[in-house]
Amino acid sequence: MEIKAVLNGMGSVHKNLLRILEDKKDILSDKYDLTFNIIAVTDSSGVAINQNGYDKLELCTDKENGIPVRDFQGYAGDDLSVALKNIDYDILFEASPVDHKTGGRALEVVKNALMLGSSVVLANKGPVVVAHGELHQLAKDNQAQLKYSATVCGGLPVLNIAERDMIAGEFINIRGVFNGTSNFICDGLLKGMTYEDALKEAQDVGAAEADPSLDVDGWDTAFKLLIIVNSVLGANITLDDIDVTGITDITADMLRAEAARGNTIKLVASAKNGKYSVKPIVLAKSDFLGSCDGWEMAVEIHSDIYGISYHKLYEKEPIPTAASMMRDAVNIFSKN
Ligand SMILES: NC(=O)c1ccc[n+]([C@@H]2O[C@H](COP(=O)([O-])OP(=O)(O)OC[C@H]3O[C@@H](n4cnc5c(N)ncnc54)[C@H](OP(=O)(O)O)[C@@H]3O)[C@@H](O)[C@H]2O)c1
Repeated sequence: MEIKAVLNGMGSVHKNLLRILEDKKDILSDKYDLTFNIIAVTDSSGVAINQNGYDKLELCTDKENGIPVRDFQGYAGDDLSVALKNIDYDILFEASPVDHKTGGRALEVVKNALMLGSSVVLANKGPVVVAHGELHQLAKDNQAQLKYSATVCGGLPVLNIAERDMIAGEFINIRGVFNGTSNFICDGLLKGMTYEDALKEAQDVGAAEADPSLDVDGWDTAFKLLIIVNSVLGANITLDDIDVTGITDITADMLRAEAARGNTIKLVASAKNGKYSVKPIVLAKSDFLGSCDGWEMAVEIHSDIYGISYHKLYEKEPIPTAASMMRDAVNIFSKN
């Protein structure tokens, strides 16, 4: 089956997605009977459309060589929703920058896709943070599918584990270290790096948000907690319901003092007894979350019937995030 795909955003995540779709095309075709054809792409310069499908690796190379989408063959203006009005597509992949206040252009594009009955897979948390319930309703009303497993800890399938594999479980406590950039910076400070050098390394590998204050002020962690709580616990919270503190007041001296006691400081998200928080917490290095180092992210799920399960991922570059977008798409379209 041919899947006509639109990519909103052409940054680190979607370039990795394009490479994965190319590298895995034989498995996707042989095992899942799926061929992904990229018929439209966007970046901040505009939209380009090629109904026959772009060469995925050429798209990556062109962007890496600094060619903006407005110079691509098939340039079709700067408004994706307008450009796509007369085009059939099966799926929108959304990985443009986060706007957690309004959802931004991404929210509009996602709503338009769902209203047309096209499925949507997101890495961008913004639309789900702002309009979780509305998007699910739109998807239901239009028989479209909406998936966003990549929004929570990239390749760590937190949502899938809790929603798919813990049927009828009740969640007593969910806590985790969800932001690789903050975790890497704290480890870097302990090892003698400056805050600026550690942040630069996070930006160089494509892990930091376009606005890194979202990472270090705790907001990226709060977005992920909100998505988990609303998706898995069936709640309907907003960011105002989460008590958020970031890592900017943590110093190398504080980290060294705790290390001397066998402890560490982690930016921990927690959902327990209807209380939601993101804050730096002193943990024993032997604690599961305390052992979450550098580029690792982790979650602990305490359930009534599924025990306490511990999940951890090492993700430096956003390859697992991109793989999770592919996984969501395969879960939508595969009949296997
Ligand atoms: N990187 C990760 O590890 C990771 C993990 C999980 C989730 N995410 C989420 O995935 C999304 C993308 O992350 P990324 O690392 O790929 O970001 P990125 O490298 O900064 O790329 C963002 C892309 O979006 C484009 N863009 C900017 N404004 C746009 C607009 N109005 N319409 C369409 N495209 C626009 C940019 O265009 P230009 O190329 O012209 O600048 C760029 O191609 C973010 O929401 C992020 O939170 C990222």
